Amino acid sequence: MNSITPQPGIMDIALYQGGAAHVAGVDNVVKLSSNENPFGPSPKAMDAARATVDTLHRYPSTDHARLRSAIGDMTGLDPDRIICGVGSDEIITFLCQAYAGPGDEVLYTEHGFGMYKISALAAGATPVEVRERERVTDVDALLAGCTERTRLVFIANPNNPTGTMIGEAEVARLADGLPKQAILVLDGAYAEYVEGFDAGQSVIDARQNVVMTRTFSKLYGLGGLRVGYGYGPRDIIDVLNRIRGPFNLSNVALAAAEAAIRDTEYVDYCRAENAKWRAWLAEALAELGVPSDTSCTNFILARFGSQDEAEACDLYLQSQGLIVRRVAGYNLPNALRITVGDESACRRVAQAVKEFKGPAA
Ligand SMILES: Cc1ncc(COP(=O)(O)O)c(C=O)c1O
Repeated sequence: MNSITPQPGIMDIALYQGGAAHVAGVDNVVKLSSNENPFGPSPKAMDAARATVDTLHRYPSTDHARLRSAIGDMTGLDPDRIICGVGSDEIITFLCQAYAGPGDEVLYTEHGFGMYKISALAAGATPVEVRERERVTDVDALLAGCTERTRLVFIANPNNPTGTMIGEAEVARLADGLPKQAILVLDGAYAEYVEGFDAGQSVIDARQNVVMTRTFSKLYGLGGLRVGYGYGPRDIIDVLNRIRGPFNLSNVALAAAEAAIRDTEYVDYCRAENAKWRAWLAEALAELGVPSDTSCTNFILARFGSQDEAEACDLYLQSQGLIVRRVAGYNLPNALRITVGDESACRRVAQAVKEFKGPAA
């Protein structure tokens, strides 16, 4: 009998549940459970990935200079204050590892993204969940939830799985009201879906206690490659780089991400299609008695009358080859999160919900 045990907190982590991709016995399945881009990545990103095949024996860049420079060109962020990671998940992990440990508290909102809790526990810190107001981040509740032990406050803006967001003045009020030892993390995984939104850059650039995380997994359609980045004050980025593995991103991932972010025509097309079909789907579902909050993302949080109804609808959608996401684990038992697919997927979802609701709808 040995006494080998993991660090405190690790065994409290519930395994992350990814979106399902198959339904046994059903063909022509559409996956609408992980907020992926239905059109896939830019063809230029795919070409760039293929072109790296000749260099697979070479280690990748350690400083990601080309990708950081491309991000800077396309977003106006200062490349010297960008750190690239294996998805934005890795940046979330770095933040918890670097700034939170035993005795420290990591705050996030009631329906916040699951990785905040996982990363806090992995670092030995105490995760603290703060209520939202009607599925919207509540700045007052977050400020009231802070203590002298708070080290990190995560909000996704727009938020997953609610799809809602708060404005710049509220974000600034949150940043300015935090205790002085705490960092505000603005998770911008869906920021690209909001036309003209700087994802919090101006709030960050005017302060020393705010960082953002971003991803290539959503609008850029590269979830399978795992590329994300963080941006913030120079000293925080310097801290994060010290714990980053030197070769955390592959040649393929770096090349594809660079091409993806430079292909503005494709990105604009995907954003516009998403906005169009998101509005169409939300309205179609509302007419069937399934309301949702106005979404700022690439998914809709469809609300049903009860958990039983949400689950029954999910089963019916599955039988029709439509895989959406249950969100009871995010304290939203009556809801289903539905990724906005292409036109055909959206029409299939609306038709299936109509059939589920029956003639009374
Ligand atoms: C709010 C939020 N943050 C972060 C992520 C992680 O994205 P990735 O690690 O693929 O960059 C997701 C993915 O679903 C998300 O919804």
